[in-house]
Amino acid sequence: MIILALESSCDDTSVALVEDGRRVLSCVSASQVLVHTPFGGVLPEAAAREHLMTIHPTIQAALDAANLTMNQIDAIAATIGPGLIGSLLIGANVGKALSLITGKPFLGVNHLYGHVASAYLESDIAPPFLCLLVSGGHTQLIHVKTYQTMSILGETLDDAVGEAYDKVARLVGLAFPGGPLLDKLAHEGNAHRFQLPIAVTQRPWDFSFSGLKTNVSRQWAQAISTLDCDSEASFIQTLQADMAASFQRVAVKALLDKTLACARALTLPTISIAGGVAANSALRAALMQWQEQSDPVLGSIRGVLPPLAFCTDNAAMIGASAYFNPITQDVSHDVFSRMA
Ligand code: KG4
Ligand code: ZN
Repeated sequence: MIILALESSCDDTSVALVEDGRRVLSCVSASQVLVHTPFGGVLPEAAAREHLMTIHPTIQAALDAANLTMNQIDAIAATIGPGLIGSLLIGANVGKALSLITGKPFLGVNHLYGHVASAYLESDIAPPFLCLLVSGGHTQLIHVKTYQTMSILGETLDDAVGEAYDKVARLVGLAFPGGPLLDKLAHEGNAHRFQLPIAVTQRPWDFSFSGLKTNVSRQWAQAISTLDCDSEASFIQTLQADMAASFQRVAVKALLDKTLACARALTLPTISIAGGVAANSALRAALMQWQEQSDPVLGSIRGVLPPLAFCTDNAAMIGASAYFNPITQDVSHDVFSRMA
């Protein structure tokens, strides 16, 4: 079964052709980074207008890359939420129109289910598994029980970890998008220069990142108050890199320690990570390193890392979710900005 999938929930227009939920025949994405960089964040109206301009050429590019025509497609899927309403409307409407024209079913996909389903792409992983979903809007530990059923075991009580990455990046003066830049810079810094806290939560599998962010803000203000006009640029760069490294060390530890403890407590054989922050080099390295440890209990759990292209927003994951958890939508179905 070949699904044409559309993703336009935020600032990436992405179109993929996915066979049987796992094989990616093509995935073409148009990034809007250059449009939003001057604003230091995603400007919703500009995002929607960009989707409108790029979605049709992107669909054609994805069909061409897979060497397919619309006649060979079995169903059309599109993200229907959560996300920016103006952005969602473009992908959902184009998907519905294609469905009406071709007579093929329209499958509306929850963006978060899509991130979870990224584990299936180019992989043989099957439920049950524990998914650590880490994106710009969410930080959740999800027990994926079957392809259709999952339950949220814990989630952030305040900021999502991607949001914390972006805010800390902005605070130390990095450009948009902050997360990947902070990740890169962290490799050049001293991760023990700043002592930052890991939040303790009442419920065991919840997270909290606002205290960490506030602590970064306080210690950063203190550090730069010692600078004067004659301070060398290289001195400031070292400070930035040290803060990036210190933040990354603690953020990754906060995520991984809980995830491992949760997998052990529930005796789940597999952990997958999903969402934009799953592209983080330190998180990926830590998960792989931990997996290689010789501890008989820990060593028996498998870690699954989706390829980088399927961590940040992409349509291939929407195609995977539509295949494994198909929810045929009436073409009058609405989009939604937040989970109910
Ligand atoms: O999943 P995603 O593309 O969009 C949402 O659904 O939110 O995630 C975007 C988030 C942003 O906060 C971005 O800064 C973060 O993922 N991100 C990273 C990295 N790449 C993307 N954070 C840390 N390290 C990275 N390498
Ligand atoms: Zn996302």
